[in-house]
Amino acid sequence: MAIPDSFLDELVGRTDIMELVGGYVRLTKKSGNNMFGLCPFHSEKSPSFSVNAEKQIFHCFGCGKGGSVIGFIMEIENLSFRDAVEVLARRAGLAVPEDSTSDELAGKRRRMLELNRDAARHFYEMLMSPLAETARNYLVKRRISKAMVTRFGIGAAPDSWSLLLENLTKKGYSMQELIEAGLARTGRKEGGAYDFFRNRLMFPVIDVRGGVIGFSGRILGDGEPKYLNSPDTLVFNKSRNLFALNLAKKAKAGMLILAEGNLDVVALHQAGFDCAVASLGTSLTSDQARLMSRYSDKAVIAYDSDEAGRRAALRAIPLIEKTGMGIKIIDMGESKDPDEYLIKHGAEAFKLLLEKSENHIEYRLVTIETNAELTSNEGRLAYIAAATELLSELVSKPEREIYGARVAKVAGVSPESVENEIEKKANMRLAKQKKEHEKRVMRPIAAMQPSDRTLRYENEYSASAEEGLIRALLKDPMMMKKSAEMGFSQDEFTSPFLAKVFEVLSRRVSEGRDVRAALILSELEIHEASQLSVILQKTQAPLQDDRTVRDYIERIRTEKYKNVDPDSNLLLEIKSYREKKDVGGY
Ligand code: CTP
Ligand code: MN
Repeated sequence: MAIPDSFLDELVGRTDIMELVGGYVRLTKKSGNNMFGLCPFHSEKSPSFSVNAEKQIFHCFGCGKGGSVIGFIMEIENLSFRDAVEVLARRAGLAVPEDSTSDELAGKRRRMLELNRDAARHFYEMLMSPLAETARNYLVKRRISKAMVTRFGIGAAPDSWSLLLENLTKKGYSMQELIEAGLARTGRKEGGAYDFFRNRLMFPVIDVRGGVIGFSGRILGDGEPKYLNSPDTLVFNKSRNLFALNLAKKAKAGMLILAEGNLDVVALHQAGFDCAVASLGTSLTSDQARLMSRYSDKAVIAYDSDEAGRRAALRAIPLIEKTGMGIKIIDMGESKDPDEYLIKHGAEAFKLLLEKSENHIEYRLVTIETNAELTSNEGRLAYIAAATELLSELVSKPEREIYGARVAKVAGVSPESVENEIEKKANMRLAKQKKEHEKRVMRPIAAMQPSDRTLRYENEYSASAEEGLIRALLKDPMMMKKSAEMGFSQDEFTSPFLAKVFEVLSRRVSEGRDVRAALILSELEIHEASQLSVILQKTQAPLQDDRTVRDYIERIRTEKYKNVDPDSNLLLEIKSYREKKDVGGY
């Protein structure tokens, strides 16, 4: 898997972070070497997201995310390290050098995608065979057209234990390969296997690059589980993909419709709503939400109307909101899902529904209303409290007034009292946000402890000197000489994380390699890179020289000294070090 360091160095060196980030984030404010914009990784109203041209790093004072160009692409495109490198390399016109292991893995992936494509072909052909009469009848019953069968590549797994296995082993795939692709399972009998999908309507899951990455199979009629999805494989992970996104990404509707079942998606496409997708069995994940936001800035939730669907919608809202997409929720009234609604009322009616679909505040307000107990005073007060809390999130004042009036009516109180309550809460919310913003942006030093728990500092005093040392060394790696002169080693760090940074840095210095911060960042885990970017953004003394390094090292040693038992050897060591220092003199 390893990509040569020298290549990573070149890649990072050739990528301009301002230009890269500028493609995703509007950087509007300038402050020193930093440009600021609204963070793409969390929702905010004032810009906390900074990009530093000199250090070639990004950092958000709000959510704490930060890192190099590679980390940025990993986060925003939801890619693995390797894929992010691929993307950046393509952009810079470089070819990623392949080593033998990654070659092998890439080859395995390619082969699995071919296998899946052949399996999809098999299912598609089977749909027309005499063995698949039940499946064909089911399609007729669900009113799915021939055109949709072709567009989605819908197929059938007949009621047989090994039809796919037989067919594909004939084509040259091994049983082991089918098992690894999640298409077959090992049987009880030694060395035997059977088809994973049997007696189901088969939907290939195709990613945005057009690869058949997996399948979901729907039972023909009622029964459990309704959908059977491919297990995770080398090419498939159901919580990171969406059914039909390969089609919906090309839609011109300016939105994505999120439905529950694959059949709802097919019905929607059939009715002309070709922007419909579904999550693959899990409730929507943040990865899926982020994936959606890459293709549209508006999401319309069209989950089933039952309690489960409502709950799933409420869970999905904050995840989608976080990506910055606008959200609306469709109310299908008596119909249980989009499919049924389309059959009952037709496409025109659904279009109207889309136009007037509720915004999520409306949706959440209705949910609060439905759960409210309005017969007692306490119940009414609780209802007002929950509703005004929600409405205080609204930015627009007219909106706050309109919804406020409705709450007042439901609760049987005056509109003024509700309005006052909302304003009070909105002001409190605003003040709190402002304070937090200031705390993060204006006084970054106040937040000494890393936000990632695994990196917590045991000794904050020492850690602040350790951070300072790292900052100084990264600014001017020539100062490594000074630290070496003082016999300073990475074991003296109290923070293992900072010791690691020091180790990476000194290794690069001794190998005579590039030591720009952005390169150091790309050698760290993502949470470590984030924290290092926090550290690098902290203000530092304008003047940095050998003395700075010496002072930091001394502070680190003094801290250690404070915490040792006075009779230990360390004390003597330090004493002798101090004497040496006096002799050496600088
Ligand atoms: N589901 C799943 N795997 C998929 C797709 C859906 O496990 N690939 C799950 C969803 O999470 C949901 C249910 O199966 O809980 C699908 O819901 P539904 O809308 O009822 O599916 P339909 O095929 O539309 O069925 P119906 O005819 O009953 O509407
Ligand atoms: Mn359905």
